Amino acid sequence: MNIRALLTQKAQAAMSAVGIPADCPPAVAPAKKAGFGDYQINGAMGAAKRMGTNPRALAGQIVDALALDGMASQVEIAGPGFINIHLNPEWLAAQTQALAGDSRLGLAPVEAPQTVVVDYSAPNLAKEMHVGHIRSTIIGDSLARLLEFQGHKVIRQNHVGDWGTQFGMLIAELEEHLAANEGAAFALKDLEVFYQQAKKHFDDDEAFAQKARDYVVKLQGGDERILTLWEQFKDISLKHGEDNYKTLNVTLTRKDVMGESAYNADLPVLVKDLLDRGIAQQDQGAVVCFLDEMKDKEGNPSVMIIQKQGGGYLYATTDLAAMRYRVGQLNADRIMYFIDARQSLHMQQVFTLSRKAGYVTDAVSLEHHAFGTMMGADGKPFKTRSGGTVKLAELLDEAIERATQLVADKNPELGDELIREVGRKVGIGAVKYADLSKTRTNDYVFNWDAMLAFEGNTAPYLQYAYTRIKSIFRKAGDFNADAPIVIAEAQEQALALKVLQLPEAFDHMGAEALPHVLCTYLYELASQFMSFYEACPILKDGVDPAVRDSRLRLASTVADTLALGLSVLGIEVSEQM
Ligand code: ARG
Repeated sequence: MNIRALLTQKAQAAMSAVGIPADCPPAVAPAKKAGFGDYQINGAMGAAKRMGTNPRALAGQIVDALALDGMASQVEIAGPGFINIHLNPEWLAAQTQALAGDSRLGLAPVEAPQTVVVDYSAPNLAKEMHVGHIRSTIIGDSLARLLEFQGHKVIRQNHVGDWGTQFGMLIAELEEHLAANEGAAFALKDLEVFYQQAKKHFDDDEAFAQKARDYVVKLQGGDERILTLWEQFKDISLKHGEDNYKTLNVTLTRKDVMGESAYNADLPVLVKDLLDRGIAQQDQGAVVCFLDEMKDKEGNPSVMIIQKQGGGYLYATTDLAAMRYRVGQLNADRIMYFIDARQSLHMQQVFTLSRKAGYVTDAVSLEHHAFGTMMGADGKPFKTRSGGTVKLAELLDEAIERATQLVADKNPELGDELIREVGRKVGIGAVKYADLSKTRTNDYVFNWDAMLAFEGNTAPYLQYAYTRIKSIFRKAGDFNADAPIVIAEAQEQALALKVLQLPEAFDHMGAEALPHVLCTYLYELASQFMSFYEACPILKDGVDPAVRDSRLRLASTVADTLALGLSVLGIEVSEQM
């Protein structure tokens, strides 16, 4: 249950009962300051302005009409017409108790599931995955996980770059390695090195370059031998990607791959369709669309090329075909693209043209969730010491290595095996959380010390909070897991309320594709737990057994909430660390 949504419903009903127009929003929000209740209904002021009446008097009418059914212990009007709602501790206790121990923490799947296509990761297969792919991969995966948990039908689409002229050169290079009896897996064990080799070969050797160009034509023409080589290359490159996904605990698999090449056959069909219907036109040998919907300041339409002079197709053409497939074949209600902010214009053109051409109706939501760049300490895009791109696999190895060392220093008693496992979870969790917890649209600075700190808004802090709660249970031994949850102290009340606000964090994250909302929530929950634990002893001598059991149950819902929230972010917890 989403408390904010429930109060919004109730406020809406009360407002309509006193004759407030339906389009005046109730504006329910969590209270910002202590002493003003837990939630506020702020809609009376706006409504009064519209109706030309006194806002405080209108607020009074709303309060009289409010049917809160035991949710609140006190409702008061403050200032010009704010309605402050103090939730009833007994109601909070009953709600917490109802979800305690449930694996979904009482969250039923949505009543009207959507089909959501999530386009993320999408590396270029010609090269090794590098840090530039990390944000799309991590952020997209968290949304795919969340929406799936909420009960939507999620279709992951890994729109990998597996097509284009560079593959001619790579295939020609691979062919030579195979002829020299080198296995493909060996030749391609480092794609970066292989690419450099092929490029050098191409630049230095005209005969090789000629062959490479010839292979591009053959590949496009469907030549079997060339296609087989290309498949081999793709397969190995995808395996590299899958190794990264596995290390990163990212849910993408081979069946989610729907690369650029998959749309080849549709490109001429699509271009013809747009030409036939006058949406595209011939222009100096190319096929272009002029988008009046996206005029610049001078009134010039935005120009989108969909076929080059000479017949070649573009990145945009493929995205248009992908759009048709996603709407027409996959029946998407919502399509979410997790792509770098630098592709914003491209996405906007694709969206605009897709709607204009009728490939996408207004009922389908098209969303480009852009993100900023990962920066180094120098404030420039993250690079190796020598200025090269950082391979994702190497970055992840370093994260695990650093975290394992930290865990070993902190708790050597764990033993080697556990240290390695916890080190892996903490290292990967730290990298992911550092990314997820920042406002998506901003650039962010990559900093090992900050992300691996056990204090502050970090994965290690949250993972450690979870472990601490688990250790309370190990010390507590047997307790009555059916004991009633009773809320007597302010800290208990604040903590129960926080636990009950998970659905608000989930819904907000899902609606706006903002994982940092969930991160902030989890951080506040863990911090709230620490204050509770200080103020409300659990295992100390002299604590009434009923109070102890109630607090243990509350603590266990906190642990479950942390674990569920982190799992949605793709971050693992450990019982010990
Ligand atoms: N392969 C592209 C790149 O590396 C990203 C593809 C994103 N998805 C899409 N549908 N365009 O820039």
